[in-house]
Amino acid sequence: MLATPIPQYVDARHLCRMEDKTQYIFALLGLLASLYFIYWKADPLYNIPAIGPSAPILSYLGAYRYYYHGRQVLREGYRKYKVFRVPMLDRWVVVVSGADMNEELRKLPDTHVSLAQAVNEFIHSKYTVARDITDHPIHTAVIRGPLTRNLNLLFPDVVDEMKTAFPEVMPLPTHDGEWVAISVRNTMACIVSRASNRVFVGLPLCRDPKFLDTLVEYALSVSKARDILNVMPGRVRGIVGNVLPWVKRATRHASVCIQPMVQERLQRLQNTDDDHGDKPHDYLTWLIEETQKVKLSPDFVVQGILASNFSAVHTASNSITHALFNLAAHTQYMQPLREEVEDIIKEHGWTYNAIKEMWKLDSFMRESQRLCGVTGVSLMRKVLLDITLSDGTYIPKGTLVVAASSATHTDKTYYENAEAFVPFRFYDMCTENGTLGTQFVNTSKDYLAFGHGKHACPGRFFVAHELKAMMAYIILHYDVKLEDGALWVWHDIPPPSAKILFRKRQSEVE
Ligand code: HEM
Ligand SMILES: *[C@@H]1O[C@H](CO)[C@@H](O)[C@H](O)[C@H]1NC(C)=O
Ligand SMILES: *[C@@H]1O[C@H](CO)[C@@H](O)[C@H](O)[C@H]1NC(C)=O
Ligand SMILES: *[C@@H]1O[C@H](CO)[C@@H](O)[C@H](O)[C@H]1NC(C)=O
Repeated sequence: MLATPIPQYVDARHLCRMEDKTQYIFALLGLLASLYFIYWKADPLYNIPAIGPSAPILSYLGAYRYYYHGRQVLREGYRKYKVFRVPMLDRWVVVVSGADMNEELRKLPDTHVSLAQAVNEFIHSKYTVARDITDHPIHTAVIRGPLTRNLNLLFPDVVDEMKTAFPEVMPLPTHDGEWVAISVRNTMACIVSRASNRVFVGLPLCRDPKFLDTLVEYALSVSKARDILNVMPGRVRGIVGNVLPWVKRATRHASVCIQPMVQERLQRLQNTDDDHGDKPHDYLTWLIEETQKVKLSPDFVVQGILASNFSAVHTASNSITHALFNLAAHTQYMQPLREEVEDIIKEHGWTYNAIKEMWKLDSFMRESQRLCGVTGVSLMRKVLLDITLSDGTYIPKGTLVVAASSATHTDKTYYENAEAFVPFRFYDMCTENGTLGTQFVNTSKDYLAFGHGKHACPGRFFVAHELKAMMAYIILHYDVKLEDGALWVWHDIPPPSAKILFRKRQSEVE
């Protein structure tokens, strides 16, 4: 009899210990779960509907989905809600839906929201692009002001650079009729970069391999630094950001090329003040004048040039890459475009006004950008002071807010046959007195490719004419088509390896 209780007792004690342990474990799990829920519910954005799991940690799954299927996620939210949020790895982004909410977002005052601070959140531009240019965007003022006002005067340079660059960068076999596969994104980036920098720094620097290398070095440094800063917690970022060497080194290297030209312009400006010599009339001079206006050192001009290239080259080469793929996938539009371009060039030559008047091409570019963009969002803003939107949504300071541009652009409320590529839809809508009602450069609450409102892309007048001139050149000189069996999924960012077949133009326009 005695023998049995002991093991039982031992067992019981054993069991009891087990129970204690499980209790602790359960208690601990319970505590963690409560903290988890408190943390989750304490999230100031808790009341905004989330696409995908909103719980901490689980939201990483959503972030993964958003990263790979961003447009789908945005569309899902757009269909269901006026305001929703999507997860990124380190934060939620609040998204507004529909033209009226877009209008509300773009009208929020600069005291409450900031585009520059939003860009800073994504690429840490304070440490990667340049600290001072984030605070004093002198290039934005110059692009919006003198550059846009003087496009007419600058345009012959853009055309000259483009005409020199194309045969060098895209040589075709002398053997007639042979197709060559060309990786479009890199090729276009190269031509866009030359045409744009011809305006930014002029000859001979825009063709100087050493200068072009410094620009590439700079772009690589920015992305290297950004990748490192992206994985840093906020507080450490400032310290690390300040000691990362690459961007500073690349800026120094660019400075060696640019600084002598700045000195020369300063000298000439001085001479004009003393009433001998002509005032130079170019981008560098305007940047210098802008630094003087805001009382900064002329050394600052180097950062202004780098920031200009940074805003101009990537966006523009993506846009023309999309346009070329759309043309290659719909070759039936080649003929009407050729007729338009040829007639206008014959009559006016390659002038700014001639390019402006290519309304079919204009409509084609606008339609291409309606369907294809880089991110599917626009009007990116960082909230600086708590705001409440018209539908009652409260958005606290520090939140990133964007508009779902790709979902707006494919909403049938605003566009008939919204999913289809109809390149002349804007042309057909309205051509009165030889001008187009809605042009490539026009922004509106249902067309956000260039943003909308006060901060709408100031480079859009420049880039619209630059890209139309490049397209016109291609339309006149080359035939294009997709590679055999290739499908063009038009809204994605084409990978650098995506190719289009080009050959020397065969047919003449009758
Ligand atoms: C097809 C090419 C381009 C596209 C799609 C594009 C698009 C945009 C967008 C969406 C914005 C933000 C607008 C907003 O949030 O309201 C923007 C801003 C800006 N863009 Fe562009 N852009 C292009 C080309 C250029 C070029 C060529 C330049 C320079 C010459 C440029 C300079 C700028 C600058 C300086 C800003 C900041 C404006 C501000 O802070 O107020 N962009 N761009
Ligand atoms: C100009 O900036 C872009 C990034 O926006 C970069 O890819 C490019 O390498 C830079 N420079 C040149 C010469 O293309
Ligand atoms: C087009 O021209 C007609 C006659 O000259 C004029 O009445 C009309 O307002 C013009 N329309 C536009 C959009 O400029
Ligand atoms: C489009 O932009 C042009 C150039 O700024 C302007 O003259 C025109 O009135 C705009 N059209 C519309 C429909 O907003």
